[in-house]
Amino acid sequence: MRKILVTSALPYANGPIHIGHLVEYIQTDIWVRAQNLRGNRCVYMCADDTHGTAIMIRAKKEGITPEQLIGRVHEQHLASFTGFGIHFDNYGSTNCQEAYETCKEIWAALRSAGLVHSKKIQQLFDTQEGTFLADRFVKGTCPKCGAEEQYGDSCDKCGSTYSPSDLINPISALSGTTPELREAEHLMVEIEKLHPFLTEWTQNGNHLQPEIANYLAGFFLNDALNDWDISRPAPYFGFEISDAPGNYWYVWFDAPIGYVGSTREWCTAHGENWEDWWKNPETEIHHFIGKDITYFHTLFWPAMLKVAGFNLPEKIHIHGMLTTNGEKMSKSKGTFIKADTYLKYLDPATLRYYFASKLTPRVDDVDLNFTDIREKVNADLVGKLVNLASRTAKFVKDLGTSAVYPEDGGLFAYAASLADEIGQAYEDCDFAKVTRLVMTIGDRANKFVDEKAPWKLRKDPDRQQELQDVCTIALNVYRQMVIYLAPILPKLAEDSAALLNENAADWTFESVKTPLAGTQVNEFTHLMSRMEEKAIEAMIEETREENKPEETPADAQSQWDDSAQPLEDEPLEAVCTIDDFCKVDLRVARIVMAEEVPEARKLLHLTLSLGGGVTKNVFAGIKSAYKPEDLVGRLVVCVANLQPRQMKFGLSEAMICAAGPGGKDIFVLSPDSGAVPGQRIH
Ligand code: 2FM
Ligand code: ZN
Repeated sequence: MRKILVTSALPYANGPIHIGHLVEYIQTDIWVRAQNLRGNRCVYMCADDTHGTAIMIRAKKEGITPEQLIGRVHEQHLASFTGFGIHFDNYGSTNCQEAYETCKEIWAALRSAGLVHSKKIQQLFDTQEGTFLADRFVKGTCPKCGAEEQYGDSCDKCGSTYSPSDLINPISALSGTTPELREAEHLMVEIEKLHPFLTEWTQNGNHLQPEIANYLAGFFLNDALNDWDISRPAPYFGFEISDAPGNYWYVWFDAPIGYVGSTREWCTAHGENWEDWWKNPETEIHHFIGKDITYFHTLFWPAMLKVAGFNLPEKIHIHGMLTTNGEKMSKSKGTFIKADTYLKYLDPATLRYYFASKLTPRVDDVDLNFTDIREKVNADLVGKLVNLASRTAKFVKDLGTSAVYPEDGGLFAYAASLADEIGQAYEDCDFAKVTRLVMTIGDRANKFVDEKAPWKLRKDPDRQQELQDVCTIALNVYRQMVIYLAPILPKLAEDSAALLNENAADWTFESVKTPLAGTQVNEFTHLMSRMEEKAIEAMIEETREENKPEETPADAQSQWDDSAQPLEDEPLEAVCTIDDFCKVDLRVARIVMAEEVPEARKLLHLTLSLGGGVTKNVFAGIKSAYKPEDLVGRLVVCVANLQPRQMKFGLSEAMICAAGPGGKDIFVLSPDSGAVPGQRIH
């Protein structure tokens, strides 16, 4: 029996879990469950990554303390993971005493090994927020290509990397102000001194996937490793460095130490000794991470462990990033899906199975295609797997399985023969191969059921033994498939074990080798539904809604930035009283007739209806902007009590209200719909 400790990367405690995260936690959870099913002792440790500038700022924006923020997020993360059937032996926090103790121990080891020195570092400082700015909190113009709005570490237009102080016109993303350069003392780890060890460890072919080893070789074999800047001056949310008051360990120092902190928490609660896990050559440590954090886990982390005399990782399993429908996850396209939104509309087993069917030992990105997931789930899980049970279990509910396992033409033996290959595929993280192999069993078994047609046998009283035998075979093969898939589909495994009067916790890979015979079969209950397009669409729509930026009054104003528009030349009139205003009788009116006045350059002749049979004759200077036919029927605002004025072309009895300087820019005012002629305007 192997003793294995497994971790996934610790998610930052400043946002919800989304489907991009889930690739890794589902992958790890499957691997851990498979190890236990194969008879090893395997525990899964994780925690929230709680320190650093981003969390400090987020808490400040919400008006709460960082501790309150990380407490709330911890609950949310754990609920989302549980919803997807991800089981941790411990889910802790990097902000715990056990992690702090371990930080001090590893730090002391780095100091004693003579690897730490201090150095003055210039960094941009936001004077309004009173904090130094991490690279991603500064934006400005790329010093190489001039692209605007680039982050402080690299340019996404030309790909060049630089330090934030190289940016042209740097702006703090926190306050929008121009930061200033300030100098502070930082503590540096001379990782270059461990170069020979890291070369051997990364290149010996035992711990990393070949493409990762090659990637690392490409940039560090022949070049010296830069010193690692391990400290941040206050203010910083993290652990204050034991022997350097006013300075804090950089979040990436204590993040992986969180793996140990979480183990220590669990050991305390379970009466175990944490050093049996982390300082014991008999224990295998396996880390699962995304390719984006390779550098920290393959160079700094092994270096820290080595110096402090901890176990080195047996393997670091690195996966690619999630894309959706072949593209980067996008908020506006509704593909940046939160774990909880997925759970609201879809069965978590669908995502577990789909990711499993895509995951291989390689570092390739994983694409979630919504047509593909539906087709795969419906064809494999419903069509080939659950169908086997739903088409047979009900016929043997009272009879149970046959007393002796019947002759099945080699079906059971074929499935049992795959145990080693499937076990190895799990070990290798080749879950795609697991699903392929298991579905070959499903193909054979469904062909068998189709040929034997138990629903016909059921109607023939002379063939009831045959019916029981056919159902016994189908259910046994179903059981083998479910045991093989139990790490991927733990809930289905539990429900299926209950159907077969067993307990899934008792299953091991050995269980596939002995058929059930003469056993009870319980009432068939619903196991899994087809995946419907409508549910997927509803989930995407909700994601789009969730991601719509909330419009604050300030945002709304910025859409209508009228400040560039000069106030018309006309100065504002002298103040008038409400009584003065009431002297002007403004009414809603409808234009019932409009015609040109041929002799007049600017005028249109209008007849306005004020309701109640009252009409007014108006000559309006709007000919340059309106055609008569476009005006007829339209509601307008009219000054109804204006002194009538005799004009060359007739009597003008009222005025209609319009804005604009003249010419084409005349804009007749209209009331909102619902108003009717004759209503007074107050
Ligand atoms: O990249 C991230 O999301 C980090 N929070 C991962 C930390 S992994 C480990 F080192 F803790
Ligand atoms: Zn650039």
